[in-house]
Amino acid sequence: MKVTIIGGGGRVGACAAYALECSGLVTEIQILDANESAAEGEALDLLHGSAFAGEQKIYAGNYSRASDSDLFLITAGLRRKPDESRLDLINRNVGLFVQILDSIKSAGMRMDAQVFVVSNPVDILTRLAGQRLDLPSQQVFGLGTMLDTARFSSFIAQELGLAPLQVKALVLGEHGDSMTPIWSSASVNGLPLAGLPECTPAFQNAVFERTKGSGAEVIKKKGGAGWAVGIAIREVVHAVLLDKKALLPVSSLVQGAYGIRDICLSVPSIVSRKGVERHVEIKLWPKELMALQQSARALKETLSKVKA
Ligand SMILES: NC(=O)c1ccc[n+]([C@@H]2O[C@H](COP(=O)([O-])OP(=O)(O)OC[C@H]3O[C@@H](n4cnc5c(N)ncnc54)[C@H](O)[C@@H]3O)[C@@H](O)[C@H]2O)c1
Repeated sequence: MKVTIIGGGGRVGACAAYALECSGLVTEIQILDANESAAEGEALDLLHGSAFAGEQKIYAGNYSRASDSDLFLITAGLRRKPDESRLDLINRNVGLFVQILDSIKSAGMRMDAQVFVVSNPVDILTRLAGQRLDLPSQQVFGLGTMLDTARFSSFIAQELGLAPLQVKALVLGEHGDSMTPIWSSASVNGLPLAGLPECTPAFQNAVFERTKGSGAEVIKKKGGAGWAVGIAIREVVHAVLLDKKALLPVSSLVQGAYGIRDICLSVPSIVSRKGVERHVEIKLWPKELMALQQSARALKETLSKVKA
């Protein structure tokens, strides 16, 4: 699989490239960035490690070398400022993003290529990508609440002294202020977390608030997220590459699940070589369903402002 990372000279793109290099499954990684020198530097640094990592082609490229990509990973964008909401970023990022989509199109992308959006506000930009590219909607998806889900599960494991890989706790909805924690299906090795005596309402509230504030906390402390987002991206790329049919909270166009339509956001989704094959409408608690639908309304309102 050939992956072209647009914005690969930046922190998120480079961390994703590193995660993909370490796993050695992707065969070709092209780093593309408006800052050509940064793209060359990152590609070179990654290439230096390839002798110990895997049989992969790694290089800095451009759109003319991108047309045969199996997957376009878009991480280009402006970073969120410490106190800026993800949705406030929209006006600064939309113009830049549309330019990138047009460049991908003129490069002559394949009809079976996947477009995977990470740049923020990710749900809005995923919707724009779906509207602008002539691809089936399953092949255009965003990172959505993958990173929030990773943070949420990791914090729960840390706080309760459990093995991180055994804790499964989803965050759905917007990757942003209205993200929704899903306690109804949160589990440790298949057993409900809500059944643990330590998992009190106060604990649930505290761990979710910490999750929600994590993006801002990381921006304040080190300028932006990198390693965890790289791992979350790898999880999705591998689900596509290995045709895993993994249930993941990626963002994609929702047309009916949970009574939501015409907006991209994270609902439980089956990810395979086809992209987002389908949505799985697992039963939620009524308060979770209401919060998810509220997330969709908030995103729709923002999207209507973008169109105007
Ligand atoms: N969805 C998520 O969970 C998530 C998590 C973290 C960050 N992000 C988002 O990812 C994006 C990148 O963050 P970062 O920390 O890597 O920022 P960064 O500033 O380190 O990197 C952005 C890169 O994009 C490049 N770029 C800008 N315009 C470009 C264009 N037109 N074409 C090609 N490259 C271009 C820049 O040169 C830079 O190298 C931001 O929008 C950020 O909010 C999303």
